[in-house]
Amino acid sequence: MGNLFEELKSYQAKDIYPFHMPGHKRNEAAVDFLPALAADITEIEGFDDLRHATGILRESQEAAARLYGADETFYSVNGSTGALLAAIGACVRPGGALLMARNCHQSVYHGVCLRQLKNFYLYPKIVAPYGFGGAIFPKQAEAALAAHGEIQAVLITSPTYDGVTSPIRKIARIVHRHGAVLIVDEAHGAHFPFHPYFPESALEQGADVVVQSLHKTLPSLTQTALLHVKGERADRERLRRFLAMFQTSSPSYLLMGSMDACIRRLQKDGERLFEAYAHRLKGLRRRLSDLQYIKLVGENLAGQEIAADYDRSKLVLAPPPGMMSGQGLSRLLREKYRIQMEMATKGYALAMTSVADTNEGFDRLCRALEDVEKEWRKAGRRPGKASAYLQEDLIYGEPVIPLSRAAEMEKTKVPFFESAGRLAGDFVYLYPPGIPLAAPGERITPAFLEAVQGFWAAGLSVQGIFPGPERSVAVLKCAPEEC
Ligand SMILES: Cc1ncc(COP(=O)(O)O)c(C=O)c1O
Repeated sequence: MGNLFEELKSYQAKDIYPFHMPGHKRNEAAVDFLPALAADITEIEGFDDLRHATGILRESQEAAARLYGADETFYSVNGSTGALLAAIGACVRPGGALLMARNCHQSVYHGVCLRQLKNFYLYPKIVAPYGFGGAIFPKQAEAALAAHGEIQAVLITSPTYDGVTSPIRKIARIVHRHGAVLIVDEAHGAHFPFHPYFPESALEQGADVVVQSLHKTLPSLTQTALLHVKGERADRERLRRFLAMFQTSSPSYLLMGSMDACIRRLQKDGERLFEAYAHRLKGLRRRLSDLQYIKLVGENLAGQEIAADYDRSKLVLAPPPGMMSGQGLSRLLREKYRIQMEMATKGYALAMTSVADTNEGFDRLCRALEDVEKEWRKAGRRPGKASAYLQEDLIYGEPVIPLSRAAEMEKTKVPFFESAGRLAGDFVYLYPPGIPLAAPGERITPAFLEAVQGFWAAGLSVQGIFPGPERSVAVLKCAPEEC
């Protein structure tokens, strides 16, 4: 292994096709980009100031607002992470509560801890047999809001990392009826408004604050995100204030220039680019659907009691049970076919596509998977039954002590396998996608230990467990009944 600088310098030449973020896919033909040194300036005359934008940056953010149909749009150079922290800070006042989906990204949990908020959870169903989270449904939101009058904001991740969307329009009506603000983490949905092949965006469906990572699904540099506001429910001055708190005071012009270029390209040419992308993507999905062993998951989730809609830019590829794991497929694609997937679990490998993908990239993926299947056929292998898919349920901890209080309590380390019954002292999560399996204050159950063991056996990366001969985990020092 060389050093980071050298590795990065030589990586492009290795010709490994990126089915992962960022959405510019390092495709110079599809992206307007700036030379790094020349564009790396500071707030010199003529270049405005992100925290008090009145000139060229204000105009750029206004262009983004017009493109997305927001009343106001703010740039974040600290990704959706910074924007979500700001949204939570602005929309929930001290003493108030946040109602959040349990499959929210870790930044939402961090927001609760930082602001010492009360929080309640909405649990998504798990999409069996693949093990990823489904949608949040209106009746869940209604019940929680009716039960807890102190909820000031509701935060839902839609789409999820795997492409599942929730019925935002119906949820928005309920949230508003209860006098709360609806924040949608649409980090993976910045491309939604540009073609009807993709789900309807949260902003169109009545969300008050919507956070999107430009870098995840559009041609823009890593760390670039948008925070949109619509209507008067969210206080814009507070949003501005909290965005300044959660971002550097030296926002990179390279990043802001990249956002500006992305917005302008979409404004000018978005319709044509997305028409072509949707057309190519449909062709790719058709070809992948013809595979006999590997299942392209997703299309049939929409409209069922599991998803409101499904983002077809995501390719969830499930190899046959008993023949190969998702990680095995991902490894094979990288080593033999020079294709890098976004992530893989036991049950599936996930490829992310974008408007910057090339025909050559799509074709390489199809040919690789067709070749893998040809080898399996030659070897006389038979796919197992669907019921044999491993049920990789996400076993969340059981909340006992409020998250923000537990995060500040004294902790100790105990051997992982002796931790059942104790209350988690820190976050334990699979990365990616960074959704906590256990959060501080949640009871560690035997089922949770078993699930984590399963993740290890599958070679997945579980963060928050200390390595060593006897793996250990942080728990609250107090005995659960005395905390
Ligand atoms: C659903 C979701 N929300 C928010 C984030 C944070 O986004 P960013 O990396 O732009 O800070 C992620 C990152 O993976 C995510 O998957």
